[in-house]
Amino acid sequence: MSRVALVTGGMGGLGEAICIKLAALGYKVVTTYSPGNKTWKEWLDSMNKMGFGFRAYPCDVANFDSAKACVEQVAKEVGVVDVLVNNAGITRDMTFKKMDKVNWDAVMSTNLDSTFNMTKQVCDGMLDRGWGRIINISSVNGQKGAFGQTNYSAAKAGMHGFTKALALEVARKGVTVNTISPGYIGTKMVMAIPTDVLDSKIIPQIPMGRLGKPEEVAGLVAYLASDEAAFLTGANIAINGGQHMH
Ligand code: CAA
Ligand code: NAP
Repeated sequence: MSRVALVTGGMGGLGEAICIKLAALGYKVVTTYSPGNKTWKEWLDSMNKMGFGFRAYPCDVANFDSAKACVEQVAKEVGVVDVLVNNAGITRDMTFKKMDKVNWDAVMSTNLDSTFNMTKQVCDGMLDRGWGRIINISSVNGQKGAFGQTNYSAAKAGMHGFTKALALEVARKGVTVNTISPGYIGTKMVMAIPTDVLDSKIIPQIPMGRLGKPEEVAGLVAYLASDEAAFLTGANIAINGGQHMH
C-alpha cells in the first residue's frame, strides 16, 4: 500500500516540485493551501491534467487549530500521514531597524510555530506504527544569517534545533527527523528580491554562479523520505551551490 505524504505549501515553487517527485515515486500526495489562496482549484486542476491526482486541503500552518483540522480531514479522507514535509514558509525582509513586531511574528509563526503545529498532529501516529519521516525545509540563511532577515534567519535556525531535539526522542521508533537547508532557488520567493540586490549581492556569493532548481531540492526530499535513509536522522543537509560550507 502506498505511503501518504503531506507537503505543506505544495502550491509554491519548491512545494510543487516536491509533490511531483513524491507522486512519481508512488506516494499518495496531499498538500495544503493557505486560506487566502484564490487559485488553489486551478492549480489542482492543472496538476490533475498532468496526471497527478493530488488532494489539497485548506490550512493555515501558523494556526494550531487549523493544522489539527487539516490533518484530521486528511486522515479521514486519504489516510494517516507517513511522511510530513514542513515546507510552507514566508519572508518579510527588512533591516532590523525597520522590523516591527507584526513582521517578526508573521515570519516566526509561519516558519517555526508551523513546524510544531503540523508535526504535533502526525508524530504520535508515526511512533505507534513504528515508521515515519519528518522533513523540515529550512534555509541557508538560517545557517549563516542574511542581511534583512533577522526574523527569517531566527525562524529557520530554530527549525533545526527542533529537528535535533525531536530526532533524539523518536530515533528508536523508526521515525527520522531531518532538516534541508536550501540556498537560493529560483521560485517566486527569490524573484521578489530586488533584481539589483540579487545580481550584485547574492548570485556572486554562489560558487556555481546560478540559482538552484526546485527539482534539485525535491530529489533530496525523496531520498530522506525513502527506506534507504533510515539511518539518517537529526541532520541538516545543505543544498546551496557551494554558497555556505560548514
Ligand atoms: N549586504 C550588504 N548590504 C546590503 C545588502 C546585503 N545583502 N542588502 C542591502 N544592503 C544595503 C544597501 O546597499 C543599502 O546600503 P546604503 O544605505 O549604504 O546604500 C542599505 O542596505 C539599504 O538599507 P535599507 O534599510 O534602506 O533597506 P531597504 O529598505 O532598501 O531594503 C532589504 C533592504 C529588504 C534587506 C533589501 O535589500 C532586500 O530585500 N535584500 C534581499 C534580502 C534577501 O536576501 N532575502 C532573501 C529572500 S529569498 C529567501 O529567503 C529564500 C532563502 O531561504 C534563501
Ligand atoms: P513560495 O513559492 O513562496 O511558496 C510558499 C508556500 O508556502 C506557498 O505554497 C504558500 O501557500 C505557503 N504558505 C505561506 N504561508 C502559509 C500559511 N500561513 N499556511 C499555509 N501555507 C502557507 O516559496 P518557496 O520558494 O517554494 O519556499 C518553500 C519553502 O522553502 C519555504 O519554507 C522557504 O522558506 C524555503 N526556502 C526557499 C528557498 C528559495 O530560495 N526559494 C530557499 C531556502 C528555503 P499559498 O500559496 O497557498 O499561500
